[in-house]
Amino acid sequence: MTFHAVMPLDDLVDGIPQQIRLNNRTLVLVRLDTDVYVLDDRCSHEDFSLAEGEVDGDEMTIECARHGALFSLVDGEAVTFPATRPVASYATRLVNGVVEVDL
Ligand code: FES
Repeated sequence: MTFHAVMPLDDLVDGIPQQIRLNNRTLVLVRLDTDVYVLDDRCSHEDFSLAEGEVDGDEMTIECARHGALFSLVDGEAVTFPATRPVASYATRLVNGVVEVDL
């Protein structure tokens, strides 16, 4: 495990996806209250940014804005078509108010 400091939790708006670059990867961060979920920012259906989609905090999903596939924020599983493959998800932790991502 290698955790990388990314940004203060307070810089993330609850339920609004935030795209970042980290170690040559493009990731999408989603804050829900004090939890932060991180996925690869690339839909598994076609090459499209998940950071442009909407978050459902009750269902714990993010929607691809291109064709509407839903992905689990928790583990990146494809929840609905047209996506059938998951996207990678990453563990996070908070250290002194700073979000860290395990890459
Ligand atoms: S590109 Fe994401 S659902 Fe098609």
